[in-house]
Amino acid sequence: MTHRFIDDEWKIIEEGFAPEESRFTESIFTLGNEHMGLRGFFEERYTGDSLPGIYLAGVYYPDKTKVGWWKNGYPEYFAKVINSTNWIGIDIEINGIPLDLATSKFRDFRRELDMKNGRLTRSFVWTGPRGEEIVFTFTRFLSMTRKNIACLAVEVNSLNFNGVITLLPYLDGDVTNEDANYGEKFWTKINQELTAETALLTMETKKTGFRVATAMATALHNRHPETPLPAKKELCSAEELVGYRYSVPVTAGARFTLHKLVAVCTSRDFAKADLETTSRAKLAKALADGYDLLYEEHRAKLHAMWEEYDVVITGDIRAQQGIRYCIFQLLSTYAGSDPRLNIGPKGFSGEKYGGVVYWDTEAFCFPFYLYTNAEIAKNLLFFRYRQLDKAKENAAKLGLKGALYPMVTIDGTECHNEWEITFEEIHRNGAIAYAIHNYTRYTGDQSYLLDYGLEILVEISRFWADRVTYHPRKDCYMILGVTGPNEYENNVNNNWYTNLMAAWTLTYTIDSLNLLQTENQAKYAAFIDKTGLTAEELNQWRTITEKMYYPYVEELGIFEQNDLYMDKELQVVADLPPSELPLNKHWSWDRILRSCFIKQADVVQGLYFFPEKFDRETVRRNFDFYEPRTVHESSLSPSVHSIVASRIGYKDKAYALYLRTARLDLDNYNADTDDGIHLTSMAGSWTAIVEGFAGLAVRNDRLTLAPYLPGPWTSYSFKITFRGRKLRITVDREQVSVQLLAGAPLTIVVYDDEVALAPDFCRTLKTR
Ligand code: BGC
Repeated sequence: MTHRFIDDEWKIIEEGFAPEESRFTESIFTLGNEHMGLRGFFEERYTGDSLPGIYLAGVYYPDKTKVGWWKNGYPEYFAKVINSTNWIGIDIEINGIPLDLATSKFRDFRRELDMKNGRLTRSFVWTGPRGEEIVFTFTRFLSMTRKNIACLAVEVNSLNFNGVITLLPYLDGDVTNEDANYGEKFWTKINQELTAETALLTMETKKTGFRVATAMATALHNRHPETPLPAKKELCSAEELVGYRYSVPVTAGARFTLHKLVAVCTSRDFAKADLETTSRAKLAKALADGYDLLYEEHRAKLHAMWEEYDVVITGDIRAQQGIRYCIFQLLSTYAGSDPRLNIGPKGFSGEKYGGVVYWDTEAFCFPFYLYTNAEIAKNLLFFRYRQLDKAKENAAKLGLKGALYPMVTIDGTECHNEWEITFEEIHRNGAIAYAIHNYTRYTGDQSYLLDYGLEILVEISRFWADRVTYHPRKDCYMILGVTGPNEYENNVNNNWYTNLMAAWTLTYTIDSLNLLQTENQAKYAAFIDKTGLTAEELNQWRTITEKMYYPYVEELGIFEQNDLYMDKELQVVADLPPSELPLNKHWSWDRILRSCFIKQADVVQGLYFFPEKFDRETVRRNFDFYEPRTVHESSLSPSVHSIVASRIGYKDKAYALYLRTARLDLDNYNADTDDGIHLTSMAGSWTAIVEGFAGLAVRNDRLTLAPYLPGPWTSYSFKITFRGRKLRITVDREQVSVQLLAGAPLTIVVYDDEVALAPDFCRTLKTR
């Protein structure tokens, strides 16, 4: 764990440059606008350690699978969102010598991510051999209003330097992925053009044929008009590179800014034939409006987003900074403006996980979108609906009926290629079914369930019914050879969580079928016809749910994570020397697999999903047993443990786990943020506040709250939408206030009291 950034409510500030941590800080300073995003790597050349990465949402490449030992059923490729044309580059020379923070001398390095305004600033003072000094200040933002536009500025201020400063803003299509399986280059050049006004570079992905036209314009502005700036601008190009070279003779006191505007358009959004014209037109419009206006409209849009999504915490600046960072990164990556997209675990911040979709979306991100804007949550459900046929193909490939959603995908095809996950981590199917239930319960809108979701549920149920094994001696159903959410154990039998999700899905499917039959007999008949569902199948599903086997430890009154878990050497994390954590960086994989240490919420994940199924004492006993053995080496884990801790009144624990989830990347808890941020767990941090501290749930069709004030907080406040209403919930030491900001009157339950809400009226209750 590190404490690298200055505590601030709205900013992430780094003072001093630590080259050995450059990948970590590059991840932290990621910016995005849903359409595109980039790591916080430098504009100018940097020969130190760095992972340059500019990613375009939905633009991917099928990288041929590379494994040591091929197993039947492995996917042929891993679809990854890939590094694309570098439009950030601005090389700089000072009297002919490259400015390179790996070799140049400098002082007062400072980086600041201003989350309120969505802008990254970096500055330092270059120092020359004779004590000359130049202040460089770089700013960048990706427009939230014009998703194709990015704006960069470099301000140069010569304190006492006399000489020539050269700036070379460029577009470079010669980019690679560090994780390319066969060192392949994923792009080919289609066109490059360069005029005095505009540079253009058009690249296309091999195989998938995504075409990307990037247009750039630059301008130099003298900030010190008394000192003339006889700058010279030359065109400069090479293979797959277009740019301009500005040579600026300066004297002490000179101050100027280079603006670089780029427009990035992809063939996902525009016809290939129009792509270059569209990019140019967008760039021309941006140029005409100018940098300042672009920035103004961008920040106004962000302010409006903050108005809806902000969580305001007082009394705990680190908690405040943590949650704003999470919200900022989430909204920068996926705010629902393109329903074809989904949420990759690293967002735009790195290559790991390929920028594609995991169960993370349904199990961890879903509540954030559901509670703030259910339409976005519905888009996420449709994303899976559109991939149902591929999920059926995926199950068939494994010789099973029904649908098995992939562990990792972008277009519905499984991409994961480790047998213990691809073939065994089948619990992911359960999270997709659960999200359908969660959406329906929260919104009260049954249309998705009945018109689309039910088809998914039936196919997932068919999968479970085929995947279970009947055990005649014990007269029960088991699920053998699986990996539960805890990936620190593989190929186990009867993972309690997986068995629970399977049986629950079968029941929920049957209940939903009954609902459809009651609601609309004709539609039900058509559905049965379409899916070919038989009475035998339904009977079999009922029997499976009745006879599902759940491993249980009688003497402790807890669920056993899976068969034989209790036969392991049962230690707790507190017994481990801190120097051995995280285990995945210190222990052999074999040792991890044999140990009792749990990577992430597993039994606790099941307790989290179904609070109504388990009484508080049962939850407490299980939590007491499993939490001390959980190393939380998946970022997804602490938020779930935090919520469950809140429910059983373990407030200190809930708060400690909250900090761990909300500041996971800022404090680099798992020493792995250099690969990229943990975006999907960031949604969990938000949920830890809303479902955990505020106790939000829907019970008996009523919105309920049971808030408390965690740790040193003096208050917190957030907004949600619920069935056409907008609510603001504020909790402080004395009272819980619920304000109906928009929508019709509504009765909710706070603690055990019914509270009638009327528009613009704030109801308050004493905090318990
Ligand atoms: C976790 C998985 C998760 C994946 C992507 C893994 O480390 O164990 O549960 O889906 O990361 O976030």
